[in-house]
Amino acid sequence: MFDRLQQRFLQYMMRRFVGNYNHTIPPGSTTVQGGDPEDAERRARNLLNEMSLSEKIDYISGIDSFATKEIPRLNIPRIYAADATSGVRCFGDSTNFPAGVAMAATWNRELIERVGDVVGKECRAKGASILLGPGVNIARVPTCGRNFEYMGEDPYLAGEMAASYINGVQRNGVITTIKHFACNNSDYDRHKTDSVVDERTLHEIYLPAFKKAVREAKSIGVMSSYNPINGVYASENAYLLQEVLREEWGFDGFVMSDWNSLYSTEGPIRNGLDIEMPGAKWLNEKNIQEAIDKKSISMKQIDGMVFNLLKSFIQAGIFDRPTVDANAPLKSKEHRSIALQTSDEAVVLLKNKRALLPLDRQKVHRIAVVGNNGLVTATGGGGSSYLIPEEGMHSIYDALRLSNSHGEVQYITSSRGLVDERDINFIVKADAVVIATGFNYISESEAYDRSWELPDHQQRLIEQMTAVNRNCIVILHGGGAMGCTPWIDVSSAVIHAMYLGQEAGNTIARILYGETNPSGRLPFTMAEHFDDYESVKNYVKDPAKMEMKRVKGGQGNPDKRKITKIEYKEGLKVGYRDTMKPLFPFGHGLSYTKFSLFKLQIQKDEEKLFPITVSSTVKNTGKVRGKEVIQLYIHDKEASVYRPEKELKNFFKIDLDPGRQKKISMVLHEEDFSFYDTQTHSWILEPGVFTILIGVSSSDIRLRSDIDIT
Ligand code: BGC
Repeated sequence: MFDRLQQRFLQYMMRRFVGNYNHTIPPGSTTVQGGDPEDAERRARNLLNEMSLSEKIDYISGIDSFATKEIPRLNIPRIYAADATSGVRCFGDSTNFPAGVAMAATWNRELIERVGDVVGKECRAKGASILLGPGVNIARVPTCGRNFEYMGEDPYLAGEMAASYINGVQRNGVITTIKHFACNNSDYDRHKTDSVVDERTLHEIYLPAFKKAVREAKSIGVMSSYNPINGVYASENAYLLQEVLREEWGFDGFVMSDWNSLYSTEGPIRNGLDIEMPGAKWLNEKNIQEAIDKKSISMKQIDGMVFNLLKSFIQAGIFDRPTVDANAPLKSKEHRSIALQTSDEAVVLLKNKRALLPLDRQKVHRIAVVGNNGLVTATGGGGSSYLIPEEGMHSIYDALRLSNSHGEVQYITSSRGLVDERDINFIVKADAVVIATGFNYISESEAYDRSWELPDHQQRLIEQMTAVNRNCIVILHGGGAMGCTPWIDVSSAVIHAMYLGQEAGNTIARILYGETNPSGRLPFTMAEHFDDYESVKNYVKDPAKMEMKRVKGGQGNPDKRKITKIEYKEGLKVGYRDTMKPLFPFGHGLSYTKFSLFKLQIQKDEEKLFPITVSSTVKNTGKVRGKEVIQLYIHDKEASVYRPEKELKNFFKIDLDPGRQKKISMVLHEEDFSFYDTQTHSWILEPGVFTILIGVSSSDIRLRSDIDIT
């Protein structure tokens, strides 16, 4: 499948990203005592005063791939960082949660906070004090190689999920670095694509999730991205790093560069970066000394960077504890059960014709499993977030076999998308055919974009299966939308599994047999055709076809070749804000039960306009227990500027027994009705009438009511 260059590139990627780094982490302890922010500032200042010029210069770059430098003379320990989000990647095994996009698909804030808490604890158990995540770059184009790591297309959903995750992690004294700041919305030639985006779109679509992570969840770290934004590289972008992040949002932590994402020495120092990772390529003693001598940077700037780092580390308590917490739990039974609950709640049932699912154990005896992801089920996309699945993990095939002790489950191999004629008989006679398809850590990965069409002739496989058996269940793996036509019409059931981590197989078996009632909802819009997305019209034609030599050649070297502009001409029309008719809308997901929604009430205070409380009653009208995600969108009826048709502003996940009903409430604040005004460079509320929309997807609105905000 791959030519030689591609093979070599893959080997490079495997070395760079897929290995498990096994550093030896010293238990270590220091004498410096932790404290509140003021105390941290005082202590950081004292340490700074003690440091020599070369110690300071040394401190603003990393060492050994994933660490900051120690200064034993001052009891400053080495601090370790680890990738990220679906678990703790370095230093051996850890609990492997679903990918970021699947976390977002749970729409369950409390659950994701528990995931963050587990990841924080496992970081402590392994001695990692900085977690290199979570990532909240918006899914602008469905083929971005890293969408799987991020939290979907909607700024509100991504912000809520990331904030919950960060709260969980940082509670354990582990620092998060929200990433990649900003507009790293595709991995196609990521060092060389300039995201050209207008101010309003930047603030309404691409920045809010970062803002929430920083302002509400208080992420101590931010990681800058590879790409330039409006012509200026993220790692030296004064507008983003200083004006927006520090001045407007009041951020007082540190900004870490993405790995090898500096392109000069002066730029990052002058414009708000605090540490270069993984080593001192640009921020080394020679370059810095020269710049100081030329007076193009000042000592005050270097001091500021060192101070931000020290203060943040002290504030998180890192200097006041052993590096490894020997009592912190790692891969415990409880952690595993949270991983299982997360993957159970992430799965999205897209389609279920003739109520094929859940499978009836009394009637379904023979199951055929086909497709690459059946035997070796993908647990995550590729690159720096990939955790090697541990031994003993169940694939979809294994898990189905184990849970169908009375029946027959067979895995049928295929070649170039075709099952051999000799095996077709089993398929024809099977009570159900599970087609486990989609991408994996090679076909969808950091550092390049993927195809829109299913890889490895899998469309052909689906067509061959659906031609001979009407009970076909297609299971998609991938970080977002992918081509589902024309086979979608002839497949009875379709599930989007995204990437589910270590419990992938178990969860799919539980969903198929109805032990788990699906409650994941799409955090992205699935269009019928790739070109339907407005954003795709302003993107490279076939992103998966980028030459590998372009990925490697000239990475990080600004002089090597020219930068391409990626113009975000669609503006706010991203995802469901787009005007196309989707195949499956944002927020969509079926259940094995039914819910009805009624009694919309809007309560506002007579005196103060905000907060406004919106409530409604939800009833489980079906036969089994289930969870529904009630989504609140706002439509601005009389705006003086263009506003998207509707925008998500809150949601509520509810768990109900059959026949039970419950009143739920959601709160709205002034900023939920506001838009970003480019005249005043701020968010403004324009008085007028708004419609509150309550639904179960962006297209399935069940209740609506107008509200006058004057
Ligand atoms: C990725 C980051 C990651 C870093 C360290 C980079 O290639 O873009 O997200 O944290 O590597 O592995």
